Amino acid sequence: MTLSIQSVLVGADETRAYGVRLGGALRAGDWVALFGDLGSGKTTLVSGIVEGIHPGARGRSPTYVLVEVYGASPSVVHADLYRIRGSAEFETLGLEDLAREDAIVLIEWADRARDRHPADRLDLSLSYAGEGAREVLAVPHGESWEARVRAGLGGIGHGGGIMRRRSRA
Ligand SMILES: Nc1ncnc2c1ncn2[C@@H]1O[C@H](COP(=O)(O)OP(=O)(O)O)[C@@H](O)[C@H]1O
Ligand SMILES: [Mg+2]
Repeated sequence: MTLSIQSVLVGADETRAYGVRLGGALRAGDWVALFGDLGSGKTTLVSGIVEGIHPGARGRSPTYVLVEVYGASPSVVHADLYRIRGSAEFETLGLEDLAREDAIVLIEWADRARDRHPADRLDLSLSYAGEGAREVLAVPHGESWEARVRAGLGGIGHGGGIMRRRSRA
């Protein structure tokens, strides 16, 4: 059994605020994989996370590049895998090398390279939740992430978040 946090976010401001809280709890070496359809709020969430790590360094959608890097110590590596053609192309991005250094890695469209993510990571799955709202499910992988989620992880479970145990699939 593991713990996950399900939250309903009403409006883009709540998505950003969730990201800011989470970003404040992240540290160098962290890997966060974001899942969800086009328009589900991944980039909005990432921009909040970047704001939480480096206030003022607003994240934007890396539309024409696959990887954007913000700030330093830790740097924030933001990848968007929407356009990659298979896991082989993922290798060319060098994300594993970047992650080994002083970096926090955030990956949109993580399912485009499902087998390339580290065992220790946080998965964030976004989905539509009716008119003007989104749901985000935060699922920790690895003991360290499980402990951090259990400890509240910057309060992402607050403000409508529901923490619940769920069986590991
Ligand atoms: N919780 C929310 N409720 C309503 N709209 C949201 C929410 N979060 C984000 N949005 C909006 O959804 C749209 C798509 O968001 P975006 O972050 O670009 O999605 P993605 O990167 O997953 O394609 C934007 O207009 C954004 O403002
Ligand atoms: Mg996006």
